Amino acid sequence: MCGIVGYTGSHEAQALLMDGLRRLEYRGYDSAGVAVQSAEEPVQVEKQLGKLAELRAALEARPLGGTAGIGHTRWATHGRPSQANAHPHTGGGERFAIVHNGIIENYRALRHELESAGVAFQSETDSEVLAHLIARAYQGDLARAVRQALKQAEGSYAVAAICADEPGVIAGARHGSPLVLGRAPHGFFLGSDVLAFIGETSEACYLNDGDSFRMDAAGCEILRADGTSVVPEFHTVTVSAEQAEKEGHPHFMLKEIHQQPDVIRHLLAAYVADEQDAIDFPDIRGLEDRLDGIQRVVFVACGTAWHAAMVGKYLLEQWSGLPVSVELASEFRYRHTVLDGSVLVVAVSQSGETADTLEAARKAAQAGAALLAIVNVPGSTLDREAHGAIRLLAGPEIGVASTKAYTAQIVAITLFALYMGRRRGALSAEQLAEWIRALDALPGQVERALSDKAQIEAVAAEPICRTASHAMFIGRGYNYPSALEGALKLKEISYIHVEGYAAGEMKHGPIALVTDHIPVVAIAVQDEGVYGKTRSNIEELRARGGVILAIGTEGDTSLKEIAQAFIGIPACPAELSPVLVAIPLQLFAYYVACMLGHDVDQPRNLAKSVTVE
Ligand code: AGP
Repeated sequence: MCGIVGYTGSHEAQALLMDGLRRLEYRGYDSAGVAVQSAEEPVQVEKQLGKLAELRAALEARPLGGTAGIGHTRWATHGRPSQANAHPHTGGGERFAIVHNGIIENYRALRHELESAGVAFQSETDSEVLAHLIARAYQGDLARAVRQALKQAEGSYAVAAICADEPGVIAGARHGSPLVLGRAPHGFFLGSDVLAFIGETSEACYLNDGDSFRMDAAGCEILRADGTSVVPEFHTVTVSAEQAEKEGHPHFMLKEIHQQPDVIRHLLAAYVADEQDAIDFPDIRGLEDRLDGIQRVVFVACGTAWHAAMVGKYLLEQWSGLPVSVELASEFRYRHTVLDGSVLVVAVSQSGETADTLEAARKAAQAGAALLAIVNVPGSTLDREAHGAIRLLAGPEIGVASTKAYTAQIVAITLFALYMGRRRGALSAEQLAEWIRALDALPGQVERALSDKAQIEAVAAEPICRTASHAMFIGRGYNYPSALEGALKLKEISYIHVEGYAAGEMKHGPIALVTDHIPVVAIAVQDEGVYGKTRSNIEELRARGGVILAIGTEGDTSLKEIAQAFIGIPACPAELSPVLVAIPLQLFAYYVACMLGHDVDQPRNLAKSVTVE
């Protein structure tokens, strides 16, 4: 997720653009840039790798004068963080500059077509194709050129462009990524959200998907997808800057829970070439030639990332036939481990800065193992040090309790397990295609699971959930890690003592804890595997007065009958069910913690990234 800002009016643009980019920093940055126009210098670009301070320093050394411009903070999707990959991108002999937020899914084909026509690319990004398409389509009307160019692009975009031949004009469009216009006494703004200009005006006009726009110092115009021109209606926004960052949600955690369908869509769009039913990871080239020699896989991670790796273990073993182990990084780094070039170590980390995971990864690489990072923050230490990376593309995760990163980690690892299964010939092309179809259905199923939030909130409001001092989560198979993750989610934001167990372990001790005031969350989705066994475990708990909150497959009336509360998830292959089970687990923890009045986004004693040992 990137941040876009634009301004045209009577004031100097640079300062307004930089203030807007500062307010958009929460959208993530691994690089940032601006393009400013003046009568003398129609398109001046400055962009820097790293935080906004780098760009600010460059502009202090070389200020860009002018009263119109666009700016961008980048959250890398295609192409590692670098100055060349930073926006704005230019085209048409540097006469055009564009900024983009989203993913151009068919960029490879477009780039190939443009390069065949002699266009020289400066970056590895998908976005740069837009600069060249707009330059190629330009016939004296920038807004029209933008619309023409976007007809060739597939995917999601919020894009803004300037050109040397039309000083002071900004044109752009949105489809799938947000874009909002602002009106101030001295000019007009655009931004990824109102934060981009909240310091100058609270008069905003949100664009709809399919809308394109043109603005200059005198005014702005919107063109609907059907070509009709409309005068923008500006409304006063009352959200505070902080609320705007949460896009109307009370907490970042709830916002990020709701981002999960789109996060999964972005992952599938980035790594699955639907037309060939093929999976490809552009950033693993550094270790791709070692994969066929791998004889063992070791996951290293901490916390929620470790739970995602646990799900990955089941899938990678099942689909690739490789032996897989999952290690707590804080233990692995001090053990006398046996590693060599036949081992693939997969370090899983949202932040890419967790000290234990970094040291475990470094130990593996020093021992000669191939090192793959599954990481969310582009340009993070782990992202840079690994031999290859699969990025989560989930955008910044602000809430300390990990949610969208967890399900993104599972989906990324699922794709990698399918990729390895196909590469090793353990999966046929038909089997792979079937799994890709099942994954394509996942975002919609997650949306359906999210639509159940009122029921989940009602369950969380039950006195036994709010007043419990202890609680248990149990699950089996692919959802044993779900039980561990559900316990951690509730524990870290409600401060209730919660344990997660493999359901089969209950009889080996933990069942001694069961009473009628300890809620037990039992995960039992219908599958041909362990469902019956888990049901038996539930019956054993009930026989001892256990209070059961069952999470199962919607429509499973027999499970519903033996539980005090039941939350159903859409039917899906058991292998993919941890992603759907995560939704009620996350929402349950969220609502209990809210009812207890805790700081959900910044729970006590915790930090978002544990960069110390
Ligand atoms: C999970 O909700 C916690 N925030 C924590 O367990 C986290 O998953 C762990 O610290 C690992 O962080 P990482 O993914 O950034 O490495």
